[in-house]
Amino acid sequence: TVAGAPVGLLWANQATPLAEPVLFAAADFPIGMAVQTGRIKDGDPFQTGLVRHFNSVTCENEMKPGLIHPQVNTYDWGPADSTVTFAQNLGMSVHGHVLVWHEQIPSWMSNFSGSTAEWEAMLRSHIQAVVGHYKGKVSSWDVVNEAFLDDGSPRSTIWQQNIPDYIAKAFTWAHEADPAAKLFYNDYNMEGLPAKRVAVLAAIADLKTRGIPVDGIGFQAHVNLDWPTSADFKAAVSAAAAMNLLIRFSELDVSVNPNNTQSQLTDSLRIQQRARYKEIAEAYLTAPSALRQGITLWGLRDPDSWILYVFNRQDWPCLFDDAYRAKPAFYGFWEGLMP
Ligand code: XIL
Repeated sequence: TVAGAPVGLLWANQATPLAEPVLFAAADFPIGMAVQTGRIKDGDPFQTGLVRHFNSVTCENEMKPGLIHPQVNTYDWGPADSTVTFAQNLGMSVHGHVLVWHEQIPSWMSNFSGSTAEWEAMLRSHIQAVVGHYKGKVSSWDVVNEAFLDDGSPRSTIWQQNIPDYIAKAFTWAHEADPAAKLFYNDYNMEGLPAKRVAVLAAIADLKTRGIPVDGIGFQAHVNLDWPTSADFKAAVSAAAAMNLLIRFSELDVSVNPNNTQSQLTDSLRIQQRARYKEIAEAYLTAPSALRQGITLWGLRDPDSWILYVFNRQDWPCLFDDAYRAKPAFYGFWEGLMP
């Protein structure tokens, strides 16, 4: 911890929003933010906060197949391009999300019918168009997202049903399109559910044995105040590190209201969330520095978080409050990042 640093509860009466210490300066690995392109506007506090605190971005939605490839012969590059250009102009890195997933796919893909060869050609062409378009601009990709269920069994998806060995093929195709990009498998609950973690790591180990270009693993880290534990996080990091995988915490947020029992963010919850963000950053730092590919936060301020509109409940999962004031969570995370 830096001497004289504001480790107190400055959130209570912070006079100047977005005047707190610069977050990414505390880390020697990228600190990223999920970005919805429409929120990047000159003079908007979202943009001010993004630029001040983060040195990496991920499109929260705009690179997903449903948005970037809405029709079979139509790619809509505009929104993602504008975020990528914005980031590049500021020297921020871009992590790409996502090439193969079972959600947010366009209806022409969900309704696709064809032979195995036609399915393969369709997915290959999608992956290679997107990775090729961003070659040299997007330095890493979530190639496959959420391919396993919580019990560790493979998720049944259109990809799993129609393309034998689709995970291996997806990584191979992405690598062909940009050999320099770092390629990740991304999923949730791998920290807290050992069965899922073991199954995913075994699948990745098998891919690596076969020479498939998998570089790393993204732990989404959509977590609660009390689950998974700090020990779970450390076990996950250590298991991934033992396989020499690059490690990301890829979509971090800390729900304080998972059971929808809270009607407001109390001081007690603020304090618990502060400690929680701190221990998650500390757990990340147990990864060897050569394997640290960064932590991305999935939302800047509470009212904009996906948790509110996807799960339809109140929550306060982010580092900043509705007025863009740094919460205790911010200071906890910032402290935890300090080597
Ligand atoms: C979420 C976005 O944040 C929302 O805006 C969208 O409505 C649904 O998807 N796991 C992932 C992310 O890999 O892509 C999801 O993002 C959150 C869960």
